[in-house]
Amino acid sequence: MSARFLILCSLILTLLSCREPDIKLSSPSIIPAPQSLLVKPGYFTMDPSTVISNADDFTHSVDFLKSFLEVKTNRSWETKYATENVILFEYDASITAAEAYTLESNAQQILIKASTDAGAFYAVQTLIQLLPFELEKPVPTHPIHLPAVSIKDQPRFSYRGMHLDVSRHLFDVEFIKKYIDAMAMLKMNSFHWHLTDDQGWRIEIKKYPKLQEIAAYRDSTLIGHYNDSPRLYADKKYGGFYTQEDVREVIAFAKARHINIIPEIEMPGHAQAAIAAYPELGCTGKEIGVATEWGVFEDIYCPSEATFIFLENVLDEVMELFPSSYIHIGGDEAPKTQWKTSAIAQQVIQENGLKDEAELQSYFIQRMEKYVNSKGRNIIGWDEILEGGLAPNATVMSWRGTTGAVEAAKAGHDVIMTPTSHSYFDYYQSESDDEPTAIGGFLPLEKVYHFQPIPKELTAEEAKHILGPQGNIWTEYITTGDQVEYMAFPRMLAMSEVAWTAAENKDYASFINRVEYFHKKMDALDINYANHLYEVSGFLNDQQQYELSTTTLGKEIRYTTDGTQPTASSKLYQQALPFTENLYLNAAVFKDGELLGKVFTQEMLFHKGIGAIITVDKEPHKSYPGSGAAGLINGIKGSDSRYGDSEWLGFWGDDIEIKITFKEPIEINEIELRFYNAPGQWIYAPKEFELFFTLELGDTVYDRREIKESENNIIEINYKLYKPKSITPKYTKLKIKIPNYGIIPDGKQGAGNKAWTFIDEIIIN
Ligand code: ACM
Repeated sequence: MSARFLILCSLILTLLSCREPDIKLSSPSIIPAPQSLLVKPGYFTMDPSTVISNADDFTHSVDFLKSFLEVKTNRSWETKYATENVILFEYDASITAAEAYTLESNAQQILIKASTDAGAFYAVQTLIQLLPFELEKPVPTHPIHLPAVSIKDQPRFSYRGMHLDVSRHLFDVEFIKKYIDAMAMLKMNSFHWHLTDDQGWRIEIKKYPKLQEIAAYRDSTLIGHYNDSPRLYADKKYGGFYTQEDVREVIAFAKARHINIIPEIEMPGHAQAAIAAYPELGCTGKEIGVATEWGVFEDIYCPSEATFIFLENVLDEVMELFPSSYIHIGGDEAPKTQWKTSAIAQQVIQENGLKDEAELQSYFIQRMEKYVNSKGRNIIGWDEILEGGLAPNATVMSWRGTTGAVEAAKAGHDVIMTPTSHSYFDYYQSESDDEPTAIGGFLPLEKVYHFQPIPKELTAEEAKHILGPQGNIWTEYITTGDQVEYMAFPRMLAMSEVAWTAAENKDYASFINRVEYFHKKMDALDINYANHLYEVSGFLNDQQQYELSTTTLGKEIRYTTDGTQPTASSKLYQQALPFTENLYLNAAVFKDGELLGKVFTQEMLFHKGIGAIITVDKEPHKSYPGSGAAGLINGIKGSDSRYGDSEWLGFWGDDIEIKITFKEPIEINEIELRFYNAPGQWIYAPKEFELFFTLELGDTVYDRREIKESENNIIEINYKLYKPKSITPKYTKLKIKIPNYGIIPDGKQGAGNKAWTFIDEIIIN
């Protein structure tokens, strides 16, 4: 028995007998996973006499740990030099990687080494994760044990970001701090604060009081989905803003957690709120209101001297508040319609020898960049800032896929990776029907986890320009802090590992186990995370059998096919289910007889296309692969409200040709085609399609149909085949040509961009 242990025993008065306890500690479950972690025999015991020693100057980190422990253990913690029963911070010049640290714990001490306060801070975050999660709720329990470990750690990327849109919906300072705290827990270091947009201006600018009086409030708010018809509104004034005092408070809070806040002031688009307050900033001079629904709006800043002076004055106050070396100036989704007819805009084009409105946008951004640079800061812009020529020192935030990232990095610009495909946490994360309404898309946890921020097209040298990834939370459909958390967690855990953990150390199975453990920690932290770990998913395999699976280990799947809810005594899923007739399946995950998660329901339509051979001449976009071409004849219809599920295939701008070869000649009476139609997401049903039927003897029957433009979400076409009375023709093949809608015309959502085509089950009867 060690001397140290005797001291411990004498201190714990409540202990009835003093016996070295047989402590079984669960293995560490750290997110993001460290570079290396070795669990050793033994443990460190934190007791009422444990102290902190700050041998070197890691003030931020030590203060952070000290106040954490003081709250959690309900006692004051002394900072003094000690080598036993101590959490000891030491400067180590040999740790050269930025933000790196080591952490060694044994029976005598917890030794943290770093060469920067940031490194020491991340060691503290790891240390907190080694503590029992119960400690997150202040409970004065002693002693506290944590395993003996040896950890060496450093981040993969220097930029590890999360974004939050506070324009569409506003969240109070307390929530922003909670969000920042969670980021720090996950070793993220950049908070992108999206402060201005069409639906509300959220930062106090003292020089322009109407931004507070007018731009910060909208008269009503769209409720339900933008794609709903008719659209519904809550006729209630909505808004508010952060005072400069609020902003300072948040910045100080973030700084203590090694988080830099990057403010975003949108320009030249997404400016309707500012123009509502100061109509002279727009090109039309007309009085307009703050936007009350979502989308992209025509009213953008006019490139007049008055606008530039306004924006410079705004940025002066912003830069006075935010120490960030980066200032985000937006640049995305700026329709040029008004610039085309504005005398001022056309004059700027002429006077500066610009070719067109795209170059005018580039001129606008470059001019603002020069101003920001003159104050010793740098701009970040969304990838549209590449159009018409990139501002010389700009960092690009690549969101419309990764093409912008590749172009920018090849041109020697730094890039932050936030492609919609892997970074948009406003997308659905589950195919379950009872998910809260979201903007659309589908971004499950696993997909975030497998995000590879370095585009393959880049050489190792070019890849150095990829600073890191970021998760984005746009809040059109997110009205409360609770819901922000639901969308952010656990996807933010996955993004933290994408950003921090070396690619070769990533392992989804291990991650999932750690997420399961993290649930308890998030419960203790009152984080309203989404739990989709206990869901069932299914797919039709090549033998036309339906396979079920679930993510975590050690669970059972039980199912019914008679419409009843599965129970612990329902059939146990052991092998793929035959699909030879219509199937109505309910399945759920069970452990020890207890139902976990939600019931998965799948309705499968057995039709004449099942089992045929199908090809599509284009690959679906990699963000919307559905279940590939085979998914178009797997008996499963896509969701009526989600184009991002595993059934809809999305094609961006492509005309497509689908070929189906039947196993044997069949009669065809009817074909049902389904297209998604969501103009807010640039998804437009095609205007027509063509059909080519191959008869048994090789002749072809041709037909063409127009599709009427409609407001409906789903465009369903029931094509009935002409049937001669005397004979019953049989068909061996079917070809369907579907031309894309084309470039979206002015006046429609997404104008000037290629339209998406979304298609799902082709039902052949
Ligand atoms: C964006 O999502 N408009 C950057």
